[in-house]
Amino acid sequence: MIKGEVVAMETTLSSTAKNVFVWFIVLFCCGGWKSEGGTTPNLKSIVIGRCYNYIMLINPTFSCDCEEVWRLFEEAVVPKSSCSNQVKDYQKMLSILPQNSPCHQFLFWSKTRWMMEAYTTLMENVYTLEDTLVGYVFNQLDWCGHLQHTGFDFESCPEWSTCPLHPVYSLWRQASQHFAETACGNITVLLNGSIASAFNRKSMFGSVELSGLNPSMVEYVNIKVVSNLRGPFIESCSLGSIAELIQILQFRGFKWTCTDNDLTLKLLQCVQSPQDPSCQMCSSSLLQTQGSPPIGP
Ligand SMILES: *[C@@H]1O[C@H](CO)[C@@H](O)[C@H](O)[C@H]1NC(C)=O
Ligand SMILES: *[C@@H]1O[C@H](CO)[C@@H](O)[C@H](O)[C@H]1NC(C)=O
Repeated sequence: MIKGEVVAMETTLSSTAKNVFVWFIVLFCCGGWKSEGGTTPNLKSIVIGRCYNYIMLINPTFSCDCEEVWRLFEEAVVPKSSCSNQVKDYQKMLSILPQNSPCHQFLFWSKTRWMMEAYTTLMENVYTLEDTLVGYVFNQLDWCGHLQHTGFDFESCPEWSTCPLHPVYSLWRQASQHFAETACGNITVLLNGSIASAFNRKSMFGSVELSGLNPSMVEYVNIKVVSNLRGPFIESCSLGSIAELIQILQFRGFKWTCTDNDLTLKLLQCVQSPQDPSCQMCSSSLLQTQGSPPIGP
């Protein structure tokens, strides 16, 4: 889900139109193209449209030739078969995308997409990979070249796990690395305490972004562990893989803090599920149980 698009839609659509729009999303996004697993239909229109949306409405200080972005993207993907896109294939396209970003606001996340989206919608100056031009344009899209003929394969694409040079993975890998390398000031890492290996060495954060972070540019790494309201409560700041992450950070000379159940995140979960028993207590006891200070080194 792209924040800017939805906000723009909501201000212009009547409520009936909104319902139709929601059904459209349910039928097409969730039913249609996800299950087929090929290149996202209308990929070209989406990429060029999002690119213009970004430079015209979201960040008008940026300028960029959106048609050229598409051309270079197509040139990177189409001549290759579905499983052979290297990170460097996208270099030309990425080099024409403006990528400067503000300090003190970077957010990294792993297995917490919903939480990340809710949090960044609320906290205006938080900045994620999905807020950069490349992240915005390609968010949640799928693509791959065809094995037999040139062009995109709209029928099927391989899973990420089955090929190391997956075209989608290679682009995100390159974009994530660049994003991490430019991170400065305080950064936030949002991890999921309801799964084993909340910090996973194979995730984009664990395998690419963490090693890209520069201890001399980053002031604090503030980890926030968020679990589902009804659990399971598997990992926390002092348990499991997150303790391992903290060790790595310490070893590399980062200053860090770690918070279990950050109050803002808890309240966002309760907005989503107000009927949940853990959201029923009155606000003062919520503050008492959830507002404990972060632990630090
Ligand atoms: C944690 O991960 C599980 C499994 O992917 C997901 O269903 C759940 O929504 C995530 N929880 C949070 C708080 O993001
Ligand atoms: C950065 O994080 C540290 C530790 O959480 C905090 O004390 C400090 O106020 C933060 N600085 C900014 C500019 O947010």
